[in-house]
Amino acid sequence: MRYVVTGASGTVGTAVTAYLTGRSDEVVAWNRARVSTRRYAEMEAFLRTTAPDRVLHLAFAANAGSEAEAWAADVEWVHELAWACRTLRIPWVHVSTVLVFAPWQNGPFRSDTIPAEADGYGGRKREAEARARAQDPNVRIVRLGWQIGQGCNQMAAWLEERATRGPIRASDAWLPACSFLDVTAAALVRAFELPPALYQVDSNTGWTFYQIARALAEHRKAGWTIEADAEFQQDQRMVDPWLEVPPLSERLSLPPVPG
Ligand SMILES: NC(=O)c1ccc[n+]([C@@H]2O[C@H](COP(=O)([O-])OP(=O)(O)OC[C@H]3O[C@@H](n4cnc5c(N)ncnc54)[C@H](OP(=O)(O)O)[C@@H]3O)[C@@H](O)[C@H]2O)c1
Repeated sequence: MRYVVTGASGTVGTAVTAYLTGRSDEVVAWNRARVSTRRYAEMEAFLRTTAPDRVLHLAFAANAGSEAEAWAADVEWVHELAWACRTLRIPWVHVSTVLVFAPWQNGPFRSDTIPAEADGYGGRKREAEARARAQDPNVRIVRLGWQIGQGCNQMAAWLEERATRGPIRASDAWLPACSFLDVTAAALVRAFELPPALYQVDSNTGWTFYQIARALAEHRKAGWTIEADAEFQQDQRMVDPWLEVPPLSERLSLPPVPG
C-alpha cells in the first residue's frame, strides 16, 4: 500500500516509516519544501498525482516562531487536508494528543470524555480535531500519549537531557499517558482497519511518572538519579477498548521502592 505521511522525518514519523517499509508498504513523505501546506490547490494536486491508498497526518509545528505559524500548521493545514482527503476519498488518520485534556481534568479519559484545553499546543490540537471531523466525518483521529523510544521528542530523551542538570524530580502523583514508539506505529496503522472514529493509544495501566522513569532508567541501564515529588498531579490515562495496546509491564519492570 502507498502511504503519504506528513511529519515523516519526526520522532513518530521515523518510527512509522520504519514500521511501514518493514512491511513492504511504500511511504511518500510530504516534502514541505516542495508541496505547500497552505495552498489548497497545491495540496489536492499533490494527493491526486501521488494517489496514495492512505494518508497519515503526523506533522505539527514543532519550534514554530509565532502563534500564527503554529496555528497555520496545526489547525489550518488539518482543515485543508481533511477537505482534500474527503474530496479524493482517501482514508486518513489525523494524529492528536492527550494534551487536548486540560491539566485539571482527570482520567482515565474515554473517547467520549470532552477535552477542555483551550490554549497553546493542546488547544490547537483540540481545535484541529474539531476541524478534521467537521470537514471530513470519515476521518480517524488517534490521540497519543508521551512517546518512549528513540528520537528527540520522547520521554527517554527528556529524561536524558534533564539528568545532565542534576537529580530528576518526577511526580509520583501523575499517571501519564504513554506508549513505546513501535507500539504506537503499529496502532496507527491498525486504526485504518477500524471504522472512522476517535481512538486513543495508551500503554499505562496505572504507573506514576516516578515509577516509569525509574523503570526506564533500569531498562536502559542509565545512571539517572530520580527523586519523587508530587508537584504535578493528574490521572492522564486514556482508555480505548477498540485500539488496545500492550501494557508498559510487557517491556518494563517496576523497580523496588528505594529503602
Ligand atoms: N512525541 C510525542 O511524545 C507525542 C505525544 C503525543 C502526540 N504526539 C503527536 O504526534 C505527532 C508527531 O509528533 P512527533 O513527536 O513526531 O513530532 P516531531 O518529532 O517534532 O516531528 C514533527 C514533524 O512535523 C514537521 N514540522 C515541523 N515543524 C513544522 C511546521 N512549522 N509546520 C509543519 N510541519 C512541521 C517536521 O516534519 P517534516 O520536516 O518531515 O515535514 C517534524 O519532523 C504530532 O501530531 C504530535 O502532536 C507526539
